[in-house]
Amino acid sequence: MRKKVTVVGAGNVGANCALRIADKELADVVLVDVVAGVPQGKGLDLLQSGPVQGYDVTVTGANNYEPTAESDIVVITAGFPRKPGMSRDDLLIANYEIVKTATEQAAKYSPNSIIIVVTNPLDAMCWTAYTVSKFSKNRVVGMAGILDTARFRTFIAQELSVSVENITALVLGGHGDTMVPLVRLSSVSGIPLTELLDQSTLDRLVQRTRDGGAEIVRYLKTGSAYYAPSAAAVEMVESILKDKKKVLPCAAYLEGEYCINGLFVGVPVKLGAGGIEKIYEVKLSVEEKAMLNKSAAAVQELIEILKPKLS
Ligand code: NAI
Ligand code: 2OP
Repeated sequence: MRKKVTVVGAGNVGANCALRIADKELADVVLVDVVAGVPQGKGLDLLQSGPVQGYDVTVTGANNYEPTAESDIVVITAGFPRKPGMSRDDLLIANYEIVKTATEQAAKYSPNSIIIVVTNPLDAMCWTAYTVSKFSKNRVVGMAGILDTARFRTFIAQELSVSVENITALVLGGHGDTMVPLVRLSSVSGIPLTELLDQSTLDRLVQRTRDGGAEIVRYLKTGSAYYAPSAAAVEMVESILKDKKKVLPCAAYLEGEYCINGLFVGVPVKLGAGGIEKIYEVKLSVEEKAMLNKSAAAVQELIEILKPKLS
């Protein structure tokens, strides 16, 4: 039977997710958005790309959730993006309402689905989707670490003039200014990064990774990145639908792992047909642990603001 993916939000990230899912022939796609005509128009346009691109999936659009019924995966991208000068956290309340509604509807029509959250502030929106859907914790996962890691890998490859394919890197923590790029565990074809770059260069690349989203917002002015984010979300979709069991940095609900409780934070996970099938606990140095704790504390602050709304 054909797989079905719903993408909520037919904006920049959502439409590009739909495009990439169709291009890879992963599933039939339903785009949902509140703006009348936009998901229908983009859906039809994407459908008509099929004969040229050589894909055979259906792409449709809707302003309600009935057509999304029995989706295998729901990708939530609905919400406001950042504008210059805004942090991801500035989006908290506005996007909370949007993600809450989207989750209620998506969970009602696709009670067995896996939810991938993209909307910012990412870790708090994952918590919202998890709390509202009441899904088991393995079926709610957030996209951020793959994007942050891809940025780090890109900057390392540029600096060393080597193929980006040879770079392995890991970024942990919340998707915010306190994210934790783990230099110690990053390498170029197995050669530790610390043997190839001096400390001040490493510090510069780490900071550029932390500012990676803001750098693009400054260029675009009216929104935030969407090509790399959609590629990252679709890597997760593919790993789940094909049960590839890729080990990827994703936002997962932690219950004691890394001594963090009741929060979504970016950590390495195994993604397969069951959603998050395993959370890997990497041994961290004292300094790395302190950075991860600081990042988790930043996520906790946002959750404390949201908790009264959901109780
Ligand atoms: P966009 O403005 O291009 O698209 C958002 C879409 O959501 C719009 O089409 C809007 O009409 C729709 N929408 C608003 N309320 C809705 C509702 N209740 N139901 C359905 N659709 C609704 O924004 P873009 O660039 O696609 O970004 C979307 C979100 O993803 C933002 O919050 C952004 O910050 C976040 N993001 C997160 C990333 C991550 O790494 N986790 C990376 C990139 C973006
Ligand atoms: C990014 O990192 C805006 O979170 C988004 O590009």
